Amino acid sequence: MGLDLSAKSESRSGFLKALRQWGWPARVPSTSRFLNPYVICFIVIAVVVILAVTIALLVYFLAFDQKSYFYHSSFQILNVNYSNQLNSPATQEYRSLSERIESVVTKTFKESNLRNQFIRAHVAKLRPDGSDVIADVIMKFRFTRSSNGASMKSRIESVSRQMLNNFGNLEINPSPEITSLTVQDAANIFTKECGAGPDLMTLSEERIIGGIKAEEGDWPWQVSLQRNNFHICGGTLISNTWILTAAHCFRSSSNPRQWTVNFGLSTTVPALRMRVRSIVIHDNYEPITRENDIALMQLERGVTFTRNIHTVCLPVASQNIPPGSTAYVTGWGSLEYGGNTVTELQQVQVRIISNNVCNAPASYNGAILPGMLCAGLPGGGADACQGDSGGPLVQEDSRRLWFLVGIVSWGFQCGLPDKPGVYTRVTAYRDWINQRTGI
Ligand code: ARG
Repeated sequence: MGLDLSAKSESRSGFLKALRQWGWPARVPSTSRFLNPYVICFIVIAVVVILAVTIALLVYFLAFDQKSYFYHSSFQILNVNYSNQLNSPATQEYRSLSERIESVVTKTFKESNLRNQFIRAHVAKLRPDGSDVIADVIMKFRFTRSSNGASMKSRIESVSRQMLNNFGNLEINPSPEITSLTVQDAANIFTKECGAGPDLMTLSEERIIGGIKAEEGDWPWQVSLQRNNFHICGGTLISNTWILTAAHCFRSSSNPRQWTVNFGLSTTVPALRMRVRSIVIHDNYEPITRENDIALMQLERGVTFTRNIHTVCLPVASQNIPPGSTAYVTGWGSLEYGGNTVTELQQVQVRIISNNVCNAPASYNGAILPGMLCAGLPGGGADACQGDSGGPLVQEDSRRLWFLVGIVSWGFQCGLPDKPGVYTRVTAYRDWINQRTGI
């Protein structure tokens, strides 16, 4: 360390000595000294370097440093009649109409002079307007900071207008005005609707879910159900006042005053803790067969949705959940059978297994009832475990909205081959949920 310093000061004094030799600082400026070729050379190089750096920075910030901009626009769909089927984003009607609108908007911008600026469009909501449908669309563009905001907005508006009658079978009447949104405005629109994961929040490219540790906002509907500040079970936020969970979580106590609902990644330092007004356990819950392992908790007060706390979508009763499709299970359960629960939220990718396969003699040999759903990997290794109970098994739909398909219920140990996780099949209880909550 000491050696280093002395070397530095020596080299610095050497440098100053050299400068003085070349006539700098010039105490008595004399023409001959000033025109010393070394000095000129030094000044020229310094000026060139400073200019080059300034120009490079300017070019970078003005031409290459692009920023994302969000806009909201309402499109009136003239040739589609609003029906009850469009009340929920879980219906096939809602999904296919939204997809058609998204593809028309995408196609229009991709074929316009904004093709390089347009990133993505997403229908945040379909709502009725008399008998017509209005689609609230969030659009993301990327352009350089030097672009003029007002002129970009009017260019986007003018491309929007071309949508009128321009594409096949949708008669779209775009609103003449678009609204520019901050990142926060755009996120606020998504948190009000169900099923928005972190990628949808910012309309970003494909999200990569890797590792087993969840990050802030990854699973914003996940809650920890606690007694005396001790994590017992997982649960899922399905509205601002209702949590869906498993009936077997309340074997020890079903007194709402003994429970709290905790939000955030950590069970020990929750981002938000809420009291419980009531607990509704399925009347026909059978502890032996584990049939109807489903329960609801009503919060004492409604939560305010944020980027990190909002609802998952519920599927419709008729939703098809294909064997082999990808799903994620999340929770604070133990990492191996017999282990302790953990304090940081974990995630694991699994695949749906048909009830038929799951009921094979080597597997669960007939114990899987129609209201249950199996998920795991053929060779085992990926599973929920003790302490994950009541928590969500979710799948992403074609529009990248997340749906709750299962509730962690039971399994033989954890992660063994041919012994996948068994979940309460949410579609089978869709009507029960609606009867009890109105959702
Ligand atoms: N019943 C367990 C609990 O109370 C959940 C078991 C899930 N097991 C499994 N292998 N997926 O936490």
